[in-house]
Order: sequence, then C-alpha cells, then structure tokens
Amino acid sequence: MKITVFRYNPQTEDEPRYESYVVEHHPHMKIIDALQQINERYGANIAYRSSCRAGQCGSCAVLANRKPVLACRTDVEEGMLLEPLRNFPVIKDLVVATQKSYPRIRSLRPYLHRGKKREARIERLLAKDLKRLDKLKSCIECSSCMSSCPSHTHSKEFAGPMLFRIIARFVHDPRDNLDRLAIAVEEGLYLCTTCGTCREVCPEEIPTNEEIQEMRRLVYEANLGEE
Ligand code: SF4
Ligand code: SF4
Ligand code: FES
Repeated sequence: MKITVFRYNPQTEDEPRYESYVVEHHPHMKIIDALQQINERYGANIAYRSSCRAGQCGSCAVLANRKPVLACRTDVEEGMLLEPLRNFPVIKDLVVATQKSYPRIRSLRPYLHRGKKREARIERLLAKDLKRLDKLKSCIECSSCMSSCPSHTHSKEFAGPMLFRIIARFVHDPRDNLDRLAIAVEEGLYLCTTCGTCREVCPEEIPTNEEIQEMRRLVYEANLGEE
C-alpha cells in the first residue's frame, strides 16, 4: 500500500516536500501503525505525535486526505495523503505547535469562576445541565476543529471552535458567575458561519456549532447583541 507524507523541517529546509512510501498492510492497520512501519523499514524518521493510541489524549491528530482525523483511530488507505493540521506552525513533518492556542485559552479563564459570593448551601445541578456539561467536557483537545474551521482560518479575530467549546462549558454551568457571554462576543461570536464543520470532524462529536448558536440566542435575550 502506498502512502504519501508531508515532510518538512523548518529548521533546516526552505520548502516542504512530499514523499511516498510502500507499507505492508494488515487488517485494521491504523495511520500510526503505518508511520511506525515506515520509520522502522526505511529509517524515514518521520516526526509525529502519539501517546495513548486509544483516542483519549488527542495528540495524534493529522490531516488524512485533507480531513482532520486521529491517526490512532483511523484505518490507513491505499494512496492516502498525510499532512500536518492546518492553522498551526509546523515544528517538523506531522507535528504542529498546538501550544500556539494556549495564551488565548488562558485569557478565557478556563476554570470555574466563583467570584466573591458563594452559596452557603450545596448548589444543585440539574440533570439536563450535567448531561450538556459532560458532552462539552469530553473534548480531548486534539485541535481538529481549529484546523478545519473556515472562520478561524480566515480571521484570527474568531477564537475558534475549541475555545468556544470552553466558553460554552461555563455558560451552562450555573455555579460560574463570570460574564461568559460578554467574553464570547469579544472572541468573535458573530464571526462563526455555523457551517457545522467543527462537529463533523470532532472525534467526540461535540456540537460546538449548535452551542455557538445557543450563545447568540442567549446574548440576544440578554440584550447584549451587537447592532
Ligand atoms: S460552525 Fe462555526 S466554529 Fe464550527 S467550523 Fe463552522 S465557522 Fe467554525
Ligand atoms: S472540540 Fe472536538 S475536535 Fe475540537 S479539540 Fe475538542 S475533541 Fe478535538
Ligand atoms: S494517540 Fe492519543 S488520541 Fe491518538
């Protein structure tokens, strides 16, 4: 089986290139297995990330035939093209600098903000809120959605779906008392095209597109909307 891999070391090379390799296929072979075999067979030294190999850590996301996937969960196919995620600087080959998002994530204050006032009693969470929060908290931070979001690609004023997923997680937590909707507006709430790509590529099927629409509805209701 032939696969083609994006190769680039920005430290030593001026331009990226593509190299093709033949791998010995076996049933249910994943992209990670193919990359490992190429490195062992050809000494190709392709850089890629993986840790859990079980779809849990989010470190192995790459583009396969131009679509973001988890390399540890996706079967390799004849003629497959493997490239690094878009919208992040390439460190080497298939490894990108996802840490580029960290300062902006930190600025969102991605933790439960209690403020000065605390309830004396135990606060109750409704089952419907918990279900929603569980889904929103299932993100494995693979950055697949950030790589394929058209709005984030064209304008960095739009923070991107992974960050809006974080904001939504606190919008729906009744214990949080920061004005998350105002933060959402500042981060480009109205720049989302609601195309749904973030959900399509998300390995956890998190409906960030729907959450963004819901935040717009809440902003409208709270009379915070832009003119
Ligand atoms: S729905 Fe919005 S956040 Fe999701 S990919 Fe499309 S533009 Fe990006
Ligand atoms: S929301 Fe989904 S696609 Fe985006 S980073 Fe989290 S798990 Fe990955
Ligand atoms: S190696 Fe952890 S999600 Fe793929």
